[in-house]
Amino acid sequence: MNILVTGAGSGIGKALAEKLVVRGNSVVGLSRRPQAQGSTGRLRTVACDIRRESDVNRAVRKAVASVGPIDVVVHSAGITVFKEFLRTSSREFGQVLQTNLLGTMFVTKAVLPGMIRRGRGLIVNIASYAVKTVYTGSSAYSASKAGTVAMMNSLREEIRHRQVRVMNVFPGAVRTPMWPPHLRKKYGSVMMEPEEIADIVCDAIMQPPHLTVEELVIRPLVGDLRV
Ligand SMILES: NC(=O)c1ccc[n+]([C@@H]2O[C@H](COP(=O)([O-])OP(=O)(O)OC[C@H]3O[C@@H](n4cnc5c(N)ncnc54)[C@H](OP(=O)(O)O)[C@@H]3O)[C@@H](O)[C@H]2O)c1
Repeated sequence: MNILVTGAGSGIGKALAEKLVVRGNSVVGLSRRPQAQGSTGRLRTVACDIRRESDVNRAVRKAVASVGPIDVVVHSAGITVFKEFLRTSSREFGQVLQTNLLGTMFVTKAVLPGMIRRGRGLIVNIASYAVKTVYTGSSAYSASKAGTVAMMNSLREEIRHRQVRVMNVFPGAVRTPMWPPHLRKKYGSVMMEPEEIADIVCDAIMQPPHLTVEELVIRPLVGDLRV
């Protein structure tokens, strides 16, 4: 399959892109810093800031020119701000929404028409367990991720009959650069590893097209971390 992965420069996106290549897929990773990845074998990289629709459209055209029509898109690009509501500036709030919610929308809009035309496709949204519970110090992030899930749930029902599937993934804490170093140090031993999330999501992606994995909840055994 031809698979587009956003946020492929680090963390979950990087682990997933690498795993999907090992499983025989042609993968294009989008990242603002494509040099962080390098292009190796069937993993190609394209520079893209998903906050800009024109940049996204250009990058997706480049990806299609490189590997062919996109069968699967994985939305893993994302940012957070670990601050209480009043300490989160309106600008920070905007950046989080622009990246996590609008960026996901821009990338989906760029790949979906091709999927509908071909009558097959899979959209994978790496959301967060923050949508299913309440974390303090995460209002911007939680709002953005809840937005993606609501958007994807609505989209799923619109395109189900076109044989395009939509999967929301709800990971708990994963040991990636999204967490500041002191929290990774404090909680690293109980966090999940990006490769572990990648293994599970990869299995779900590779399921036959007559079934659809709509939700995946993956949490550390200890549950929520207190930050
Ligand atoms: N870590 C966790 O505990 C956890 C839990 C639940 C869900 N998630 C979600 O999992 C996804 C992956 O996060 P991660 O934990 O793997 O963190 P990460 O290592 O920081 O990965 C996020 C990636 O997003 C990319 N990105 C950010 N802004 C971008 C933009 N404007 N345009 C293009 N790419 C952009 C970054 O690459 P560049 O800087 O190179 O652009 C980075 O590689 C995120 O959506 C996150 O919300 C994470």
